[in-house]
Amino acid sequence: MHLRIATVLLLTMTMIGLRLSIPIIFKSIITLLSSGQSFSENLIVIVLIGYGFCWVLDQSIMQIRTILTFKVIERYIRNMCLTMVDSLLSLSLRFHLERRTGALTSQIYLAQAGLSQVFWGGLSYFLPILVEMTIVMALFSYLYGWTYGIALFFIMASYSVIGVLGMKKSMKVQAIHNDKSAYASSRLVDSLLNFETVKYFNNEKYEHEQIDAALQEQEKAGGHRFLFDGYMHLAQVMVIGLGLIYITLLSGRAVYQNQISIGDFVLINGYLLQFTMPLNYLGSILQQTRKGLYDIHLVYKLIFQKPEINDSPNAISLVKDKVEVVFDNIEFGYTSDRLILNKISFSIPAGKTIAVVGSTGSGKSTLARLLYRFYDVSSGRVLINGKDIRDISQTSLQQLIGVVPQDVVLFNESIYYNIAYGNPSASKEEVEKAAALAKLDSLISSLPDGYHTLVGERGLKLSGGEKQRVSIARMILKKPSLFIFDEATSSLDTHTEKEIQKNLEEISSETTTLIIAHRLSTVVKADEILVLNEGIIVERGKHEQLLEKDGFYTSLWQGQQQQDIEMSLV
Ligand SMILES: Nc1ncnc2c1ncn2[C@@H]1O[C@H](COP(=O)(O)OP(=O)(O)OP(=O)(O)O)[C@@H](O)[C@H]1O
Ligand SMILES: [Mg+2]
Repeated sequence: MHLRIATVLLLTMTMIGLRLSIPIIFKSIITLLSSGQSFSENLIVIVLIGYGFCWVLDQSIMQIRTILTFKVIERYIRNMCLTMVDSLLSLSLRFHLERRTGALTSQIYLAQAGLSQVFWGGLSYFLPILVEMTIVMALFSYLYGWTYGIALFFIMASYSVIGVLGMKKSMKVQAIHNDKSAYASSRLVDSLLNFETVKYFNNEKYEHEQIDAALQEQEKAGGHRFLFDGYMHLAQVMVIGLGLIYITLLSGRAVYQNQISIGDFVLINGYLLQFTMPLNYLGSILQQTRKGLYDIHLVYKLIFQKPEINDSPNAISLVKDKVEVVFDNIEFGYTSDRLILNKISFSIPAGKTIAVVGSTGSGKSTLARLLYRFYDVSSGRVLINGKDIRDISQTSLQQLIGVVPQDVVLFNESIYYNIAYGNPSASKEEVEKAAALAKLDSLISSLPDGYHTLVGERGLKLSGGEKQRVSIARMILKKPSLFIFDEATSSLDTHTEKEIQKNLEEISSETTTLIIAHRLSTVVKADEILVLNEGIIVERGKHEQLLEKDGFYTSLWQGQQQQDIEMSLV
């Protein structure tokens, strides 16, 4: 890669040399032809061919450089995207819950385009022109006196001053445009993700209006940006024009006064045209380059964002083995002004099963997220085998734990892919066994494409219960040392639930397990049941003990028994 970049730079230098030679050769031709002296015909032929040859060589090198530069850019784009993916995947759940997918992807695309803008604009146009102009400035001063050099310098300096002065405002205008475009694309993505909901409420027109409102803002900000860029460009063109007139007048008068030859006049104008033409579009190239730099900077800001949850410097690794979990007087709130879990203490001895039940929003899933270390507790400790989980490396901690989450989201790939995701190196037999344990085998054999059936975006082509079973199967494949079932079978019919329950009990009989459930029939056998209400454990004990207490649990139990009777009567 470095060799390639060095070659690109070398080719660029050669091109600069060739471009600088063209007006000099042209001057020699004019001088020869207009001198009235006799000269050999061969000489003029050689100079004329040399003139054309330089041009052809310059163009050919430019093509080779283009090809090489493309390869360099593509490699940089790939590296940047990979770094971006790695860093996004290392960021916390909080970051991902707050982000807008559409805005994030649009930012990544902008940065990709930005990389090539910076390469093309910066390396292929801006730097060479700067080098060429400096050499020509020195050449003019040397050959024709300081006035020429200073005039050229004045053009460049005013051009740059306008660019720099406008930069700050231009960045601001661009930032607004970026924000508005990112919002518009995230609004569009959100609308597509919610397609079903849009239809349920016949809200196509409403969506149209919402998206149009975002697009209008984008349009306005875009117009603003182009208008501002346009004014800046116009000011720069004026400066070039004035400079051009001044130098042409100066050199024209010098010819008239016999201070320089016609050949010199041609040379000066040759250089002027050669540089003022690119300067003319350099304005927009500079703007593109600057825009590219800005977009890349946004992505790098994300890349260097510090994850909320970090491994401590001397974090230890746990090996997959029997684990014991202790929640030691923990408190937690997603925000500092709202406590979700209050003074929670319980332990799950190795190989035992603890169930957490309680009303909706009482903090059950939050317990699971704390154990997986998606968030850190505000006070107290979560211990695994006596070690605070903040002192365990996240990778080793998360390798130990298998979660069947409350809301299952699948990859838009085949059923096989989604099950094997639990252990991508698993054999076909292992995947099939896990599918059978999760009672997926009959479903899969009834599908025309079997395991190769695509599950649709987020798994929406499967039923709720089917998605849950895929999620159970992939967790079985992970072979964790600690199971967390968060409403793992809530979407299944009672019959299937019982069958899977039996299989899960077999698999997890020796494994430490945390079950979170609404349906109390699934937690009857747990070694201890915790009843959570508004973030506090209000009752705890075995099923029979809790029934004897005749409290919160009993009323929940009776309510559900009643429901079951009513259901069976229907
Ligand atoms: N990322 C979050 N940011 C802020 N508040 C949150 C977040 N996630 C959950 N909460 C809040 O924390 C509380 C507990 O949520 P949790 O998901 O633990 O409830 P739960 O007991 O699992 O409920 P359910 O039975 O409905 O699944 C809820 O009031 C919820 O609104
Ligand atoms: Mg929950």
